[in-house]
Amino acid sequence: MARIQSAVEESERRFAGNDPESDGSFLWEHTLHVAAIAFALARSEKADPALAAVVALLHDAGKFSGGLYHEGDEPEEAAAARLAVPLLRRSKMGLAERGAVGKALGALYNPSASADPLAAIVHDADFLSKFGLVGVAQFFIKSALRGKTLGRAVAESLSKELTYAACLPANMRTAAGRVQAERKAAETTAFFEAFLSEIRETRGLKYRIETVFWAHPRRPELRLRIRLVRPEACDRCGGRPRTSLASVSGTKCERLEARIECGRCGARSEISFCLPELAA
Ligand SMILES: [Fe+2]
Ligand SMILES: [Zn+2]
Repeated sequence: MARIQSAVEESERRFAGNDPESDGSFLWEHTLHVAAIAFALARSEKADPALAAVVALLHDAGKFSGGLYHEGDEPEEAAAARLAVPLLRRSKMGLAERGAVGKALGALYNPSASADPLAAIVHDADFLSKFGLVGVAQFFIKSALRGKTLGRAVAESLSKELTYAACLPANMRTAAGRVQAERKAAETTAFFEAFLSEIRETRGLKYRIETVFWAHPRRPELRLRIRLVRPEACDRCGGRPRTSLASVSGTKCERLEARIECGRCGARSEISFCLPELAA
């Protein structure tokens, strides 16, 4: 644990230039959270909880490998697997277990390898950690770290959050994950809906959640539930905004681009995010 913790904290520090004197690490906090969820999921899935927790502890260890994001195009899971070798060799884990951990790390975000049971558990735990009440807290922490005010977080990031919540159960690879996904997604959605009505009352920011169904570009038989948070009226002229959607193939994902355009004055804004992945 201690060795993994220093590896995770060290890579975060080199990447973000965090003050070495500052207490705590965002990435380590996230790592522990994912490990706890993975441990519990593994129990329900009749997998080895300790192994699932070890995979979870290492899952983001390659995130900032070498202090550069995606240096030399090495996927971060490959970097995590590479970092894991010397860390695990110094532990008391047997060869077979070390092999299982390495294999799971390699399969984590590779949809074609989604049959690996440990990878499926940690994949689900990683997504689940971003939802529910702790997930909501993380959303605001992340917004603040990126310098966003409450208003900008709502206007720019909340659509993605609500869409991912709506699609969370369909993104799960395990049955136990799906049970938790239903609950956590409902908590997230209920919180943000109540939050939007409160900022309407207290700050006069009037947003509306528009629900649109959109065919997944690579799997058109599946319709994704997209939830767009957009202003109720144009802030320039009070006109009624219209939304139009398009999906664009990016390097890492299929992006959804929502254009919000005022029907009266033509003022425009755009919201864009990666469409959520769906489990096979
Ligand atoms: Fe993660
Ligand atoms: Zn307008």
